[in-house]
Amino acid sequence: MNMDTFISNSPEETQALGEACGREAIPGLVVALTGDLGTGKTQWTKGFARGLGITDRVLSPTFALVNVYEGGRLRFFHLDLYRMESREQILAAGLEEYFNPDGVTVVEWAEHWFGAVPAGGPILSVTIEATSETVRKLTYERPGH
Ligand SMILES: Nc1ncnc2c1ncn2[C@@H]1O[C@H](COP(=O)(O)OP(=O)(O)OP(=O)(O)O)[C@@H](O)[C@H]1O
Ligand SMILES: [Mg+2]
Repeated sequence: MNMDTFISNSPEETQALGEACGREAIPGLVVALTGDLGTGKTQWTKGFARGLGITDRVLSPTFALVNVYEGGRLRFFHLDLYRMESREQILAAGLEEYFNPDGVTVVEWAEHWFGAVPAGGPILSVTIEATSETVRKLTYERPGH
């Protein structure tokens, strides 16, 4: 298990961390984002999209469940599982296909997939913790590396 930690002191710094990942993202990558409400998962994702070359505005897909962006280097799926209460509900909503994406996927509230992060392709797990109003600790883990 390969692990890195970063400290962010602003939303812009969190976006910059996401952007660096977006620039390096490989096809099939699934990023599993975990962290409490308002820790910065969507900020990180906005940067990730920019790193892929997407210029569309990235909005949280809390209600839509998934937003799809076609304008970047790879097709980008942005999921938010906040409202999903069981794995069955996730399967019934047809979201499982995005865990093996034809492109790359970022999943907010990935822990709502209930433990087992989908296996198979490359996975980056990002956990964000707020240590103050403006400071965030980000932990990156790459299972199997
Ligand atoms: N260092 C920081 N990194 C990221 N966001 C920060 C930071 N400091 C303050 N913030 C603020 O925290 C909030 C993060 O909001 P964001 O929507 O990205 O959170 P989220 O984790 O996606 O929340 P949700 O669980 O509701 O989806 C923003 O209001 C942002 O301005
Ligand atoms: Mg969010």
